[in-house]
Amino acid sequence: VVVRSPGRVNLIGEHTDYNEGFVLPAAINKEIFFALAPNGTDTLRFFSHDLGESAEFGLNGVSRSDIGWANYLLGVVAQLQGAGLEVRGFDLVFGGNVPIGAGLSSSAAVECGLAFALNHVFGLGLERFEMVKMAQRAEHAYAGVMCGIMDQFASMFGRRDHAVKLDCRSLAYEYYPLDMSGYRIVLCDTQVKHSLASSEYNTRRRECEQGVAILNKHYPEVRSLRDATLQMLERHQSEFDPVVYRRCRYVVSENGRVEEACGHLQRGEMEAFGERMYASHEGLQHDYEVSCPELDFLVDQSRGDEAVLGARMMGGGFGGCTINLVRTEQVERFTERMGRAYGQEYGVELKTYIADIVDGSSLAPQTVAAQ
Ligand code: GLA
Repeated sequence: VVVRSPGRVNLIGEHTDYNEGFVLPAAINKEIFFALAPNGTDTLRFFSHDLGESAEFGLNGVSRSDIGWANYLLGVVAQLQGAGLEVRGFDLVFGGNVPIGAGLSSSAAVECGLAFALNHVFGLGLERFEMVKMAQRAEHAYAGVMCGIMDQFASMFGRRDHAVKLDCRSLAYEYYPLDMSGYRIVLCDTQVKHSLASSEYNTRRRECEQGVAILNKHYPEVRSLRDATLQMLERHQSEFDPVVYRRCRYVVSENGRVEEACGHLQRGEMEAFGERMYASHEGLQHDYEVSCPELDFLVDQSRGDEAVLGARMMGGGFGGCTINLVRTEQVERFTERMGRAYGQEYGVELKTYIADIVDGSSLAPQTVAAQ
């Protein structure tokens, strides 16, 4: 079988997923492909086309490996086995064009793609949401990042030319058509990869939990920041550590922004949508403190450029990409100008990608044709 599984962008709603809030991601035309076949043995044989490396593991007693890239695959196998599903030995070649460490969820694409391929080949009968949750747990257990559900959800549930709003508490979701005729989604890749990202990520989660614990004493109905309001926070500010207070203020505000932004999208108010993106960046930079100088520089550069409707850092933070909503006819001028500015400031060539919005994980066209 040949399967494709995409990376994602997130239009707005950052660090809200693990707070049971709202996100607005979309799957993009940066994808990982998997060619997989049962091999009739008790061995898992992996080949990473992009790294030119192979690795073999026994099917029994799957555990975390020293080979970093293999863990995303092993983690998925372990989840399936843990659920009592029968995975047999298989050969796998995989590779693609999702830039690694750029915040486009290459790891979720790998996890979801493998889950999808194994589900198909071994007839496991899993629903998409079950695979999403297994992929997320694989990331927790084998990559050590206590991520929310957004990335895996987007990779599985993306729809061509649509953004999808997910309620990360109820898991209800709704597709919003993206009229891409007038503007494009342009990603500016700082190429910064901070080693702190995963430990800081887990710290943010804990800080949010601390905030919930304070509010819960006064408002028993507050079980996550999803239930909190700015008024509640303000009323009890003196009980908060100032850092925890700012973290919570950001998350509560960002949830509100997703709702507003969806309204703008529905009414075609793209300028207003862009404003919400800038506001999101402000919060991520100053209150949630997950940005970095390179990301801030790129967002600052985009401000005041009439080509740009909105821009913000995207994903977990501390590096990776900014997402920019850019008027179609000015995309080239924009990427050139940004590249020049970034080069002058940091002496690094800026990578830019134009993201098209595609469907979530699926059989690749060649597999569909052969069946
Ligand atoms: C990473 C995580 C997601 C989400 C984002 C921030 O991409 O994997 O679950 O928390 O960061 O919005």
